Order: sequence, then C-alpha cells, then structure tokens
Amino acid sequence: MNKNILVSGGAGFIGSHVCKLLNQKGYTPIVIDNLSTGYKEFVKWGPLIKADIQDKKAVKDLIQKYEPIAAMNFASYINVGESVQNPSKYYVNNVANSTIFFETLVENNVKNVVFSSTAAVYGNPIQDKIDESHPYLPVNPYGQTKLMMEQILKDFSTAYNSKYVIFRYFNATGSDPELEIGESHYPETHLIPLVVDALQGRRESITVFGDDYDTADGTCVRDYIHVLDLAEAHVLGVEHLLAGKDSCIMNLGNGNGFSVSEVIDVVKKVSGKEIPVTSGSRRDGDPGTLVASSKLAKDILNWSPKITSLEDMVNPVIQWREKWFRKN
Ligand code: UFG
Repeated sequence: MNKNILVSGGAGFIGSHVCKLLNQKGYTPIVIDNLSTGYKEFVKWGPLIKADIQDKKAVKDLIQKYEPIAAMNFASYINVGESVQNPSKYYVNNVANSTIFFETLVENNVKNVVFSSTAAVYGNPIQDKIDESHPYLPVNPYGQTKLMMEQILKDFSTAYNSKYVIFRYFNATGSDPELEIGESHYPETHLIPLVVDALQGRRESITVFGDDYDTADGTCVRDYIHVLDLAEAHVLGVEHLLAGKDSCIMNLGNGNGFSVSEVIDVVKKVSGKEIPVTSGSRRDGDPGTLVASSKLAKDILNWSPKITSLEDMVNPVIQWREKWFRKN
C-alpha cells in the first residue's frame, strides 16, 4: 500500500505543519492548494497541485495519479470577524466548495477524511471546560460553516460509507522550531502574531478588543494550542481511520485559558521589551471565554498536548516572524 495522503490547504499554516510531520512519519503529503492564502515555499514534503478544491477534474486527476489512502482538508477561510462582515465568502468556500471536494473524494473512492473544524461551533460556553457534548450554538458564520460541514460529513458517512475524524481546534499558534514554516496571513487578524508585530515595530500598537468581558481581567480568554501538537493529532487521526476504527469528533486544546492581557504580558516578559497597548471595543462574534476539554482525544487517540506553556508557544512565533519579515 502506498503512503500518499491528499492534503487540501497544505500550503497554509496548519496544513504545512501537518505535511512536515506526515513526511517525518513516512507518509507523502500530496498538496492541493490554490495559493490564495498559502505559500508555495511552505510545500516542501511532497508535490503541490495548484488548483481549487472545487475543481473536480483537478482533484480527480490527482487522485488517479497518486491514489491517496486518505485525505485531510485544511482549505478554508478562518477569520471570525470577516465571516460576520462577509458571510457569503464563508458559505461559498467553506460549505459549497468543500462539499464538492468531499463529493469528488467519495466518487473516487477516497473514503477516509480528517477534517478541521473549530471551537467556534460551540458559541458562548455554558460550562467551564467545553467538551464535545456541549450544545452547538455558533455565534458567527465561520462557526456555522464548520458545523454544517460536520453534518455533511456525517450524512456522507451514512450514505457513502465514508469515515471521518473531525477535530475542533481551539486557538492554533506556535510554529515549526526549525522555522522552515510558520503563520503568515494577510491581513493578519490573530492575536499572538499581532502582539509580536507590535513588539517588532511592524505595527504601532496592539488593540485589546474589549475589556468588559466576564473574565478575571475583563479581556477574552482563549485556549492556545501549539501547531506541533495539532499536527501530531492529525497523524494519529489518520492512522485511526487507516486502522479501520470508527468515525469520531474531538476537541483539540491544551485545557488552559489565557486572557488577551496575559498573552501581551508573556510576550513582554520573554522579550524583555515594552509593547504599546490600546483599548478597543468588542469584536463582533467573539465569545468571552473558550477553553477545551480534550479528554476524548486522550481516550481515543492517546493524544495530549506536549507544549502547554504560553512562553513556549509565543517564543517560536517571535523568532518566525523576525525571520519571515526579514525575507518578505
Ligand atoms: N484580539 C484582540 N486584539 C487583536 C486581535 C485579537 O484583542 O488585535 C482578541 C480577540 O478579540 C479574541 C482573542 O484575541 O478574544 C483571540 O483572537 P484571534 O483572532 O487570535 O482568534 P479567535 O479566538 O477569534 O479565533 C481563533 C481561530 C478560529 C477559531 C477560534 C476558536 O481564528 O478559527 O480561534 O477558538 F474558531
């Protein structure tokens, strides 16, 4: 049996880190990416097919050529705020185009799929640590699109005998310790890279979106999870499917919440420098607190995060962005 794995969105932040680990574990990632937000220089561990995921012919051709034993889907838009402003972009790409992609997969007998979902499917939490039984009440279109795709994958599984592992990520961060790849979005909207940009002088300050939430210091609390830990879960997830085990849905988080102010303080501490901070209003669609229970991933995959301190998460981001912006 070959060890080719089809990876949509493999030129992006999380997808490229997963490809690197797949390669280290003896698999060959076959990347399909339209490079709308990804980088061709992030595709280093297997071929790149530059195409849209809804391009049925391109997907069919690459399946016939490489005969992948499973697929992973990272190709989607990911900004909560943008999804509130421009929902149609999210429903068209994350739901319509992704459904066409999965349809092409099952039509061509690729029936093991690992899918990236999100903590945003839960909306405003009603319990301290969110587990997978928490109600689904997304408060933004981004979360809605991922919830719809989860249902579509379940329906496909019933109708077409396909299988899925769905991961609900909390806040992905960190980067490859060798700094070959990292997080780079234009425009950047995520907290940790923006704090690092304020530190390194690429922006004047970091704005805190809301300081009147019902949290210890009034700023939003999130569960940050290192991309290397996410990558490890994906390899375990695909191996779970390849071993013939059942479909499942799991949270991936580190189980500890950090506030926006705590993130800023840690970047100040590890760098030994001041960072200009301004206060802003709340951002539409932001729940106050999102913290995961990842017990199910431990039970099913024997996965638990290895990099759990905020220092160890922000340090590689500081180094990566220094290097990336020197070159770009
Ligand atoms: N924030 C600021 N200032 C900024 C940017 C962000 O205060 O300039 C705050 C946000 O309001 C939020 C926190 O920092 O409270 C984290 O924001 P991010 O934009 O970094 O991340 P989100 O929590 O909005 O979303 C991320 C992913 C989503 C995923 C979600 C799940 O982008 O895909 O985590 O928790 F759904």
